[in-house]
Amino acid sequence: MLPVASLPAATTALTLGILLSIMLPQPASCITRHYTFNIVQHNVTRLCKTKSIISVNGKFPGPRLIAREGDRVLVKVVNNVTNNVSIHWHGIRQLNSGWADGPAYVTQCPIQTGQSYTYNFTITGQRGTLFWHAHISWLRATLYGPIIILPRRNDTYPFKKPYKEVPIIFGEWWNADPEAVINQSLQTGGGPNVSDAYTINGLPGPLYNCSSNDTFRLRVKPGKTYLLRLINAAMNDELFFSIANHTVTIVEADAVYVKPFATSVVVITPGQTTNVLLKTKPHHPNATFLMAARPYFTGQGTFDNSTVAALLEYEDRPDHSFNKIKTLFKPTLPPIGATSFVANFTKKFRSLNNPKYTIATVPLKVDKHFFFTVGLGSSPCPQNATCQGPNGTKFSAAVNNISFVLPTTAMLQAHFFENSSGVYTTDFPTNPPNPFNYTGTPPNNTVVSNGTRVVALPFNASVELVLQDTSILGAESHPLHLHGFNFFIVGEGFGNYDPTNDPAKFNLVDPVERNTVGVPSGGWVALRFLADNPGVWFMHCHFDVHTSWGLRMAWIVRDGPLASQKLPPIPSDLPKC
Ligand code: C2O
Repeated sequence: MLPVASLPAATTALTLGILLSIMLPQPASCITRHYTFNIVQHNVTRLCKTKSIISVNGKFPGPRLIAREGDRVLVKVVNNVTNNVSIHWHGIRQLNSGWADGPAYVTQCPIQTGQSYTYNFTITGQRGTLFWHAHISWLRATLYGPIIILPRRNDTYPFKKPYKEVPIIFGEWWNADPEAVINQSLQTGGGPNVSDAYTINGLPGPLYNCSSNDTFRLRVKPGKTYLLRLINAAMNDELFFSIANHTVTIVEADAVYVKPFATSVVVITPGQTTNVLLKTKPHHPNATFLMAARPYFTGQGTFDNSTVAALLEYEDRPDHSFNKIKTLFKPTLPPIGATSFVANFTKKFRSLNNPKYTIATVPLKVDKHFFFTVGLGSSPCPQNATCQGPNGTKFSAAVNNISFVLPTTAMLQAHFFENSSGVYTTDFPTNPPNPFNYTGTPPNNTVVSNGTRVVALPFNASVELVLQDTSILGAESHPLHLHGFNFFIVGEGFGNYDPTNDPAKFNLVDPVERNTVGVPSGGWVALRFLADNPGVWFMHCHFDVHTSWGLRMAWIVRDGPLASQKLPPIPSDLPKC
C-alpha cells in the first residue's frame, strides 16, 4: 500500500521484447521501448470521497516511462473513455517527430473513443526527469506520470551515482470532476473553483481530513544519497517544497544538468521538473521529517492555500534499538507571496558548462527579436447573459493581447498540406499592438482580441523572445512553456523590460536551459532558442486556467533544405478530427 518507490520499476508496460533486450548483453547502443497506455475510468478515494477518474492503465499517478538517452519510444495510447484524449511528452524535444508532440488541435486531432494512436519519438540529447500528461481541456488533472531519462548505458551522471532514485510528483486534486470545474468557469466567465488538495505521488498526506493513511512515505537509510526526481504536475499552482532539517542539492532542471547548488527550499512551477540529491543524516536521527509543499501565489483571485505533506522516515535497525515514538520535524516554507525569494532562487540556475555533458549552447547572434506581453484580460459578456468575471465580463488571457482560439482541426496537418486557410494565419504580432506601461497602472480597456495567429520562422533562425508580464487584472507570475525546444534564460528582471540597457546584462556565458520559465510577477524574462526543429510548436502558460482562457500561441518552424531538416510524413494512424 505504501508506494515507496525506487528504480527500476514500472516494467509492467514494457513488452517481453524489451525485457529480453535488457537482459542480453548490450553494446552502448540504443533500443526501442514499447509501452501501451490504456486510457480508462476507475474509482479512487481521496479526502474520504470516492469518485471516478480518468487514468492510464488504472494507475494514479500514471505509469513511469523509462528510457535511456538515445532510445526510441513507442507508446500506443488506446482511448477507452468517452472523452477525447491526447497525450503530450512534456519537455521531449521531438526532433523530427512533430507528429508525436500531442497538444490537441495543434499537432494532432484528439484520439476519439475506441481509437488509438502510437506516439513514436527518439530521445535525443536529454537526460534527467520530464513528465507526460494529457493535453486537452483539463484531463491532465488525473492523466500524468513521470518520464525518466537515464544516461546512455556506460555513461555516468556528472555526480556520484545515487543509492536510489525516487520520483516525487506534485499534483492537484478536486473532489469535483475537473472537466465540470473548467466548463463552468468558461460558461460564467469567473475563476474556476480551486482544488481541494495538493498531492505528492497522488497522496494528499496527513494535513488533510482523513488522509493520514493516504501519505507518501519515503523510507531511507542513514548516510546515503537519494536522487529525488521532482515534477510539478499541479494544474494552477507554483509550489515551494522543503524537507524538514535537510538540504538538497539541485543537479538538473528540465532534463538538462545544471551547476549543482544546495538549497533548503525548492521553487517549482507547473511544467518544471528538477532532480535533487538528498544526502541522509550520517546516523539514525530517531526522528521523522515532513516533506511539504504549498503554493507560491501572486495573483488576485482565490487559490488553494493548503499544504501537502509526505514523510521522510529513517529505517529502524533490525535490533529495534530506537524508540518507536519519534519526534516529527516540520519544514518552514516561505510566505505565499515571497517573490524576491523566488527571484533569488531562480537566478541560481546555471548550465553546467562541462564539455562532456554540454549538448546545446546559447545562440550568440539573434536573427529574430520578439517582445510578447503575457497576462490577463477580459471578454465582453454575451447578450442576455450574466457573467462572473471582472466587472461583469468574462476572464480572458492573452499574449500580445491575442487570446488564442484553438482550431477545430489540427494545425500541423494544415501546415504540412500548406492549406492553412480557415485554420490559422501567420500574422502574430512581433510586438504588443498597443504599447503601454505594462507594469504600471493598467489601461481602462482590458478587452482582448481573439484569433488563431502564429509566428512562422525559417529553419534554424535564432530567436530572442522577451516575455513581459502585465498588471492588467493584477500582475502575476506565469509559467510559460514552449513545446519542441529548450530555451536559454539569458535575463530577467522586475518592471518593464528596457531594450536599451537590459541586453548588456544578459548572461551569454552559462544561462540555464529549460522548457518552462516563470515570468516574474510584474517583471520580464529574456529567452533565446534556435529554431532547429520543423513543425508547429505550442507555447502557453502552464497554469491550465490561463491556457483555457487563451494565454497560448504557436510557432511554425518551416522545413530546412536537407531531408533531415524536414517534417516527416504523416503517420498512418494519426487521429482524424
Ligand atoms: Cu506540459 Cu503544452 O504542456
